[in-house]
Amino acid sequence: MKFRAKILAFTVAAALVAIRWRDTFVPESLRGARVLVTGASTGIGEQMAYHYARFGAQLAITARRGDVLREVAERCLELGAQRALYIPADMGVTSDPEKVVKFAVEELGGLDYLVLNHIGPTPFAMWDGDVEHTRWLMQVNFFSYLQMTSTALPHLEKSGGSIIVVSSLLGKMCTPFVAPYSATKFSLNGFFGTLQHELPMRRSNASITVSVLGLVDTQSAMEKIREKTNMNALAAPASDAALHIIKAGATRQKESFFPFYTYLASLFRDWFRFFQDLTIQNCYYLEP
Ligand SMILES: NC(=O)c1ccc[n+]([C@@H]2O[C@H](COP(=O)([O-])OP(=O)(O)OC[C@H]3O[C@@H](n4cnc5c(N)ncnc54)[C@H](OP(=O)(O)O)[C@@H]3O)[C@@H](O)[C@H]2O)c1
Repeated sequence: MKFRAKILAFTVAAALVAIRWRDTFVPESLRGARVLVTGASTGIGEQMAYHYARFGAQLAITARRGDVLREVAERCLELGAQRALYIPADMGVTSDPEKVVKFAVEELGGLDYLVLNHIGPTPFAMWDGDVEHTRWLMQVNFFSYLQMTSTALPHLEKSGGSIIVVSSLLGKMCTPFVAPYSATKFSLNGFFGTLQHELPMRRSNASITVSVLGLVDTQSAMEKIREKTNMNALAAPASDAALHIIKAGATRQKESFFPFYTYLASLFRDWFRFFQDLTIQNCYYLEP
């Protein structure tokens, strides 16, 4: 097949997949759904809470700051959530992940969606040799995800529910200034990719969706990259990213990509490595 014909065939296939996916999302399926969203005090997690609320879900949200969570929960009720509970927790504390899941299951009477979204703060800079920070970040961004999954899985299997893991293109491709963060996201993709094989092999009816995101315009992300990259214009709206993740989870997609360029980047990441590295390194500014 000629190169142009291949590109055309690929584009048509991608469009068909996109159309089919859009058609299979049924907003009513989320009415009354029991949803736990982590990292919901701000950014994409906060936007996901608002979307679930508009769909009429029963929500439990968590993050460290209880006062901010209370405001988000109140807004969720205004937007149409059937219930909006919150529990402050620090995922760097090893007993908190289990505590949060137990709270959600007890208060909501079960669980349909576990949305793993939180991340701990980490510098956007060259790695300075700090192993302890990476160890701590692994607890927050990776091990707490496993702990919550372990506690929630029996309940999700009872309800035929889903785990949604918010990941990143930086869990698929390496770029400068994000070594500890990237390590946690690669770990998530590896771990949950394995579980995606194991659950159907043991006839589990719970599903796992891994959402691979590119740059999104949350305050924390934009503050970090400002003056260090020339990629600010690529940032997608947090509300759109949030809706994408929710739809991917509700339609039980194994892997979803947002924005679309993240799919292409994942597909071609091992091609033309020399030019790819050159392009990536030229997108970042090294401060003197
Ligand atoms: N924004 C992007 O460009 C981008 C790109 C790719 C992937 N993603 C992924 O999208 C997800 C959300 O990103 P975001 O930009 O929305 O992040 P964000 O705005 O920085 O929000 C992080 C959330 O995690 C909570 N959090 C931080 N430390 C915590 C801890 N120790 N224990 C419990 N909760 C903690 C924060 O609330 P408290 O401070 O109240 O605890 C906040 O609610 C992440 O998984 C991220 O990797 C984002």
